[in-house]
Amino acid sequence: MPVPLDDMFAQGHEQVVLHHDPDTGYRAILALHSTALGPAVGGTRVWRYTSADHALRDALRLSRGMTYKNAVAGLALGGGKAVVMLPEGPVDRAALFRAHGRAVHALGGRFVTAEDVGTTPADLEVAARETPFVAGIAGKGGDPSPWTARGVFVGILACARFAWGTDDLAGRTVAIQGVGSVGAALARLLAPTGARLLLADLDAARVQALAEELGATVVPIGEILAADADVLAPCAMGAVLDDASIPRLRARIVAGAANNQLAEPRHAEALAARGIVHAPDYVINAGGVISGSPTLLGETHDRMVRRVDAIADTLTDLLARARRDGLTTTHAADAMAEQVLAAARRNRP
Ligand code: NAI
Repeated sequence: MPVPLDDMFAQGHEQVVLHHDPDTGYRAILALHSTALGPAVGGTRVWRYTSADHALRDALRLSRGMTYKNAVAGLALGGGKAVVMLPEGPVDRAALFRAHGRAVHALGGRFVTAEDVGTTPADLEVAARETPFVAGIAGKGGDPSPWTARGVFVGILACARFAWGTDDLAGRTVAIQGVGSVGAALARLLAPTGARLLLADLDAARVQALAEELGATVVPIGEILAADADVLAPCAMGAVLDDASIPRLRARIVAGAANNQLAEPRHAEALAARGIVHAPDYVINAGGVISGSPTLLGETHDRMVRRVDAIADTLTDLLARARRDGLTTTHAADAMAEQVLAAARRNRP
């Protein structure tokens, strides 16, 4: 379905740029949702999009998500996203990423990009030959996953305090869907708490090895969402919370790293109706973007770590606001982000 360009205005985007480099086949959309808080920061997604409309829809949605994520994380950063439409047939990846670097550079620092689905640190190193506005590469932030995992861990503890009045996880069961970079690091943080861990991953060897390392239990991928657990941590892909899965959930808390966990916005209400404490994904998984703050904002390492740990306080505040105002946690998070943005716009010189 074509995306009306009106969507750009309706969702509040400041600038959306279409780039085409006929020599390399590079085609991309760079969406800057907001620079009210600072330069727009967001990953570069590379995908074989079926149409430019599909790519535009993704760029608009994801860049707006970055604005909200950065605002709630308290970072002086705006939100943006780049989507690169992979051409059909063989691709000269280096040429593509050089073209991408030039496209990012043309925005003059209003947009700073990093890794996302379909990009590797090596791709970004290539882009960085054309522009300094690249983060998350060697010497410029590094791997964000351990920090994402740490934020999810402290976020789970905050949810536990809210739900049970204690963050003692000994004897509780935590189910983790996906033990990739974030899920595995999260499992390693949870194991010493005495929580029983249930793990699932498409990669049978990886999940088996981790289960042996931590004394955890492997669960078939089709059973992990409805596993008999106190906490469910989705750390694989998005849209896992839908009409089919929500009625089957047994966990009191859903708190994980995966982006866009709700299949549709209305699923926030479905979770709330079941009394499930849901940590909005963009709040609890902000550790990765926060880990870029020393590079992007010149902050100290210690300040960055404190910011990651403060995800727990933000969530505690959010859960209380949601309960007080009768909102879902997702709506409460959006409202919090909008408040921060409105204040920044008011105070803009
Ligand atoms: P990853 O690619 O390292 O790990 C994902 C894992 O999920 C893989 O091991 C994969 O085999 C597994 N998986 C895929 N489909 C599955 C399924 N149906 N059932 C069970 N396992 C499945 O990705 P990473 O970096 O660990 O990220 C995980 C999630 O967290 C993604 O949604 C990502 O967008 C999100 N995220 C990651 C951040 C980071 O710092 N890496 C930051 C913010 C969000």
